Amino acid sequence: MQLKIYKDYHSLSEAAATEIIELVKNKPDAVLCLASGDTPRLTCKLFAEKAIKEKIDLSNVTFIGLDEWVGIPPENEGSCHYFFQHEVLTPLHFSADQVHLFDAISENQEEECRKMDNIIFEKGGIDLMIVGIGMNGHIGFNEPGVSFDKHSHVIDLDDTTLSVGQKYFKTAVSLLKGITLGLHHLRESKKVLLLANGAKKAGVIQKTVEGEITLSFPASIMQKHSNGFVMIDEEAAGLIEK
Ligand code: PGA
Repeated sequence: MQLKIYKDYHSLSEAAATEIIELVKNKPDAVLCLASGDTPRLTCKLFAEKAIKEKIDLSNVTFIGLDEWVGIPPENEGSCHYFFQHEVLTPLHFSADQVHLFDAISENQEEECRKMDNIIFEKGGIDLMIVGIGMNGHIGFNEPGVSFDKHSHVIDLDDTTLSVGQKYFKTAVSLLKGITLGLHHLRESKKVLLLANGAKKAGVIQKTVEGEITLSFPASIMQKHSNGFVMIDEEAAGLIEK
């Protein structure tokens, strides 16, 4: 794992967006997994702007969504589906057959997990995974205590995720479970970028890069990734021993 510190949120997002652009230029049939949330929002926007400006052909790229709130329909503005659709998929004209998002209102969530695992396997694995980090150290919905060996799974959401998660919704929703790619997917991804910005993430970033590698703090698995990058702004780097 390598740590990269940027001056501010914008330069961090520029760097992450450039990573995506370089990948799809070099590998037009790349498998790209993105996270939703406040942190990757600007990365997604800049990626879309750059791809349009540079007229990059994305028609062979496969897009994988990291996770979803179980029971929340895609038209809800707080869903991950809605985020991906508005920030990336519609502006870049991705066709439905290129895009794989968990169907969080399917009655068979187990089948959703196996479908996602098979797609990733058949496509030859994820080339680039870009994730955020939760205030409890989660990645996607890999909550504290989850095994590092899981592929896609459904999980009871941690109390921190349940309360912080309301920020994405205009009106309060009942959240209980999440469906998510697992940390085994992260470990197998050819490259992983974990992004964080702002002073409120300084504590979790310090634990991610300097803490013990432990199931109780899922993001600590980043330390083991040989092509993993923790990309943060100066505020999020505030508690790291320098
Ligand atoms: P955020 O979410 O980017 O909205 O802070 C991060 C996460 O919970 O993974």
